[in-house]
Amino acid sequence: MAAPPPPPAARQKILCVGLVCLDIISVVEAYPAEDTDTSFLVADFRRRGVDVAHVAWQPRGDVPCACCVVNAASGSRTIVLYDTDLPDVTARDFEKVDLSQYKWIHWEGRNASEQVKMMDRVEEHNRAQPPGRRVRTSVEVEKTREELFQLFGHGDVVFVSKDVARHLGYGSAAEALRGLRGRVRQGATLICAWGEAGADAVGPGGELVHSDAFPPDAVVDTLGAGDTFNAAVIFALSEGQSLQEAITFGCRVAGRKCGVQGYDGIV
Ligand SMILES: Nc1ncnc2c1ncn2[C@@H]1O[C@H](COP(=O)(O)OP(=O)(O)OP(=O)(O)O)[C@@H](O)[C@H]1O
Ligand SMILES: *[C@@H]1O[C@H](CO)[C@@H](O)[C@H](O)[C@H]1NC(C)=O
Repeated sequence: MAAPPPPPAARQKILCVGLVCLDIISVVEAYPAEDTDTSFLVADFRRRGVDVAHVAWQPRGDVPCACCVVNAASGSRTIVLYDTDLPDVTARDFEKVDLSQYKWIHWEGRNASEQVKMMDRVEEHNRAQPPGRRVRTSVEVEKTREELFQLFGHGDVVFVSKDVARHLGYGSAAEALRGLRGRVRQGATLICAWGEAGADAVGPGGELVHSDAFPPDAVVDTLGAGDTFNAAVIFALSEGQSLQEAITFGCRVAGRKCGVQGYDGIV
């Protein structure tokens, strides 16, 4: 005889199988119409004097879109959602770039195998140039994907994020430099920014430099502080400043950025 069904009192629960998702709802006056997001971005670049001639327009995929929450009390940011199916720029796309127009090329680590090919192309170009005409290169290892770590071995300047440094077990920028300097090529510079602790770097001759952060009166928005730091450091180095001057300038500009909402009114 089959077991009797449990008494009703033991069968009052309902089990749900699925996933839990936090929805953050933004109520807006109006929403950009379908396909106007790229024209918005292009207009924004133009307004800021960024040349978009080399954008590799993709026949498929959507513009990456992130929802960010900035805590007004501390300026800290949380990226709630980052969704993209857009293909990465390829070495084939990069072949169309006339390298002689540039004094510096920077890569954000995304598709490392393709990017190594691009960097090799610049290397080859540089071998045929007199020293003053060489294109200097930098690369940022920001995400903790294993594939990206091969990028440490490329470029004149390597930026490693606090995120990656922590992921690899380092507790400070100085520790990260000590641990990772062997992974960059001979004569390369390794730079690690560390939020409120400022930034450290090790130069071509092994010299170590540090800059404290420059906290604004009130930290209102740190979103993009890392990119702001990178941009300011690249600018300073490309203008011939020393490594010490460059990371100090980077911390100064990034600190200013943390004191304003967004990117207008930093300089
Ligand atoms: N709270 C802060 N106060 C002052 N300066 C800050 C602060 N946070 C960041 N900075 C400056 O910005 C630089 C970069 O910081 P960090 O690497 O932590 O940015 P991040 O978190 O990677 O930013 P994001 O990923 O949003 O671009 C630091 O070296 C520092 O100079
Ligand atoms: C990198 O790009 C190449 C060429 O488009 C592609 O085949 C490859 O899957 C990409 N790799 C990653 C990790 O996205």
